[in-house]
Amino acid sequence: MLFIVICILIGALYWYGTKDYDYWKKRGVKYEEPIPFFGNGFWHFVQRKSPTQANEEIYNRYPNERFVGSYFAGEKVLTIRDPELVKAVLVSDFMFFHKRGLNPHETVVEPMLKNLFFADGDLWRLLRQRMTPAFTTGKLKAMFPLIVERAVKVQDLADQAVKTGATVDVRDLMARYTTDFIGACGFGINMESLDDENSVFRKLGRRIFTFTYRDALVGMLKQVFPETFKNLYFLVPEVEKTTLHLVQTVMKERDYKPSGRNDFIDLLLALKEKGKLIGESVEKFKPDGTPMETEIELDDLLMAAQVLVFFAAGFETSSSATSYTLHQLAFHPEEQKKVQNEIDEVLSRYDNKLSYDAIREMKYLEMAFLESMRLFPSLGFLIRKCVRKYTLPGTDVTIDKDVAVIIPVQALHNDKKYFEQPDTFMPERFSPDRIKDINKHVYLPFGEGPRACIGERLGLMQSLAGLAALLHKFSVEPASSSLRHPVSDPSATITQSIKGGLPLRITARV
Ligand code: HEM
Repeated sequence: MLFIVICILIGALYWYGTKDYDYWKKRGVKYEEPIPFFGNGFWHFVQRKSPTQANEEIYNRYPNERFVGSYFAGEKVLTIRDPELVKAVLVSDFMFFHKRGLNPHETVVEPMLKNLFFADGDLWRLLRQRMTPAFTTGKLKAMFPLIVERAVKVQDLADQAVKTGATVDVRDLMARYTTDFIGACGFGINMESLDDENSVFRKLGRRIFTFTYRDALVGMLKQVFPETFKNLYFLVPEVEKTTLHLVQTVMKERDYKPSGRNDFIDLLLALKEKGKLIGESVEKFKPDGTPMETEIELDDLLMAAQVLVFFAAGFETSSSATSYTLHQLAFHPEEQKKVQNEIDEVLSRYDNKLSYDAIREMKYLEMAFLESMRLFPSLGFLIRKCVRKYTLPGTDVTIDKDVAVIIPVQALHNDKKYFEQPDTFMPERFSPDRIKDINKHVYLPFGEGPRACIGERLGLMQSLAGLAALLHKFSVEPASSSLRHPVSDPSATITQSIKGGLPLRITARV
């Protein structure tokens, strides 16, 4: 009797762990063979292969397909290979794909993950509409003095490194610069507190980006059993507590009114003054098919979650892109010299002071930065979730709600079909007369469409400011421990990072 019960239990468990694994076969889509429970996600769950690496492999394994199916635990995944389909998913048919779908549960979302990057549905739509005006060129220019202050400080950090003569992990150096920028522009925190390595703010940053075994286990449980573990927080409670405390302290100091400092807290306080967020729903429709109206209160917790977006979306991306640029320039001294000559020439016309307009004129620096993001984009893949039945254009394949669609950015950026000699660092690809030849649905460092990076200009200008400040005074060169081709970290998740950092030698320019 016991034997029969055990057999039934094992059978039921096996059924649960494999029940949807005929999805792609039934649709005649080429797919990766899954294993029970994990699908094709096993190597990710044990931190041996990042999603970027897994999707790059899929992309390269099926050179003749427009798309390829796989499974991430119980989730059906479709990796897109064809730029026309990339355009359909990200832009033309966006209304089928407005979700990023990173939260495994549809309705139970922990408060700090209600930030613009992780939010979906009406919450995303209302936040995006209201927050877009906070990222205009005018607002960015007003914020720029805060950025310049931070950029100049990066010179002090480099100066200390030069004096000791030690090899510097430029990934760490640029992460410190980015943390300072987030503190000043995102959280509105006083500069003094940032000099302290153990300040509450620095600790918060470190905790968010230290991916522990606890986080890996929680992530796996939430993905494999979304309903059972819906109330388990992905972020440890101290992240929510500290973020809310920091943001509330600054807002109270300002009496809940914009202070004129022009940072992000000021912009959020100005939004709050306008009252509730109201707009058309993307989820609820009237019987005649027109959208219903929907609204949300911008309370302290929701505001704190938006401040956290600087960490969630701005930290890894900027630190990774700037440090990888330095790495490439260290191995390409001629290009580095060209960047430095341009910085010197532009700054000589601006009283040797960094400013928004000066950075805008550093075209070759920008080209080198864009080329580094081609070789190693911080987000090596983009993700969207299908919200209702969708037939892929030019095919008879229909996918259902909740299928995750992946755009394998790292693979597209390094495909010789689109970029001649893809392994070679060539900033000239992005020169004003050649940039128009690059298909914008193949080069996607900031994503594309209505869910593209809202902070693109801010991220770009802040990154260029840090690089310009550093390369004006210092040069970088390979250290004995530098790897010509750094290794991508297999335990990375949404953003990709380099294993073991990016060690370089920094020397003062004479
Ligand atoms: C070099 C720096 C940066 C890079 C390379 C970058 C890249 C990206 C990419 C690839 C996405 C996903 C786009 C998509 O799915 O189509 C994204 C989204 C986003 N980024 Fe950035 N980013 C950078 C800096 C920033 C900064 C400084 C902020 C500051 C607030 C920011 C805020 C966001 C937000 C809020 C989203 C989600 C937008 C939405 O879903 O509506 N990013 N970013």
